[in-house]
Amino acid sequence: MAAGEKRILCVGLACLDIISVVQAYPAEDSDTRCLSQRWQRGGNASNSCTVLALLGAPCAFMGSLAPGRAADFIAADFQRRGVDLTHVAWQPRGDVPCACCVVSAASGSRTIVLHDTDLPDVTARDFERVDLSRYKWIHWEARNAAEQAAMMRRVERHNRARPAAERVGTSVEVEKPREELLPLMALGHVVFISKDVAQHFGYRSAPEALRGLRGRVQPGATLICAWAEQGADAVGPGGELVHSDPSPRRPSAFPPETLVDTLAAGDTFNAAVIFALSAGRSLQDAITFGCRMAGRKCGIQGFDGIPPLPRAPPPQ
Ligand code: ADP
Ligand code: FRU
Repeated sequence: MAAGEKRILCVGLACLDIISVVQAYPAEDSDTRCLSQRWQRGGNASNSCTVLALLGAPCAFMGSLAPGRAADFIAADFQRRGVDLTHVAWQPRGDVPCACCVVSAASGSRTIVLHDTDLPDVTARDFERVDLSRYKWIHWEARNAAEQAAMMRRVERHNRARPAAERVGTSVEVEKPREELLPLMALGHVVFISKDVAQHFGYRSAPEALRGLRGRVQPGATLICAWAEQGADAVGPGGELVHSDPSPRRPSAFPPETLVDTLAAGDTFNAAVIFALSAGRSLQDAITFGCRMAGRKCGIQGFDGIPPLPRAPPPQ
């Protein structure tokens, strides 16, 4: 990393994903063998860090861990990817959350059963220790909303006192349609909402959800909604609606040849969008890039291979 280069910080969950890849999704109360099984570091913010690191962005993770075997695995994997762990809150009590994930080779579907344990989340007080001048962007995965709102307000205050070039970009992902998380939509420069949240409000498409929910974000903010195989839509600061593929062709999610593993497609999308926006790219470019990267992710198991390997230099 170049000296002084600012990082992207993702705040949220890190968990252990125990992933079984099955030929086809099993029937309840059946006893079958899987094709393969692996441990993978999971959690939305944690997965987004993986993708940011793969894209070459210096990044850091902030979330809770508790000492033990799961945390050792998770911390080693973060380190392997070059993700900074300075702001991990090591909790003296509690267990690291763990998810059993079934990925179907036939459809690429992912079925997740998460044990989100009693591990305390990071607090606004923990966040006080973050030196904001070292970050160009901070992203929150909505969890403990009241604490996270306080963190976001701290960044707003920091930004108010600084010239545009030194301000920290902010984004928040509201993925679960839980009432207590919804106020976070009113904070942040960029708000990601899921298809689940959109459907919770009764909307049947991303553009419909954006039109209906735009009033919940602060003036000048961007609202983004990804919709699986339909790609993503967004409404920018000026109210302009954009779709992930500007050509009239639909669906425009850049699907892979074969859907292999959709686990963390949304986290990949978010990371790629943040990567592009924080580099000054347009909203249109950013959501298109987000869908391209998420599409690649859906065509492979895990994350390796999302950004194409650098091409060999042309022969002299
Ligand atoms: P998640 O359920 O992991 O949050 P989403 O359904 O919101 O993910 O999808 C995020 C992005 O991933 C989509 O905008 C799209 O680009 C890509 N994606 C997800 N599912 C598919 C799919 N079945 N085919 C193609 N792309 C997909
Ligand atoms: C994927 C993911 C998994 C994790 C689950 C938590 O988006 O972050 O890695 O098990 O969701 O809800």
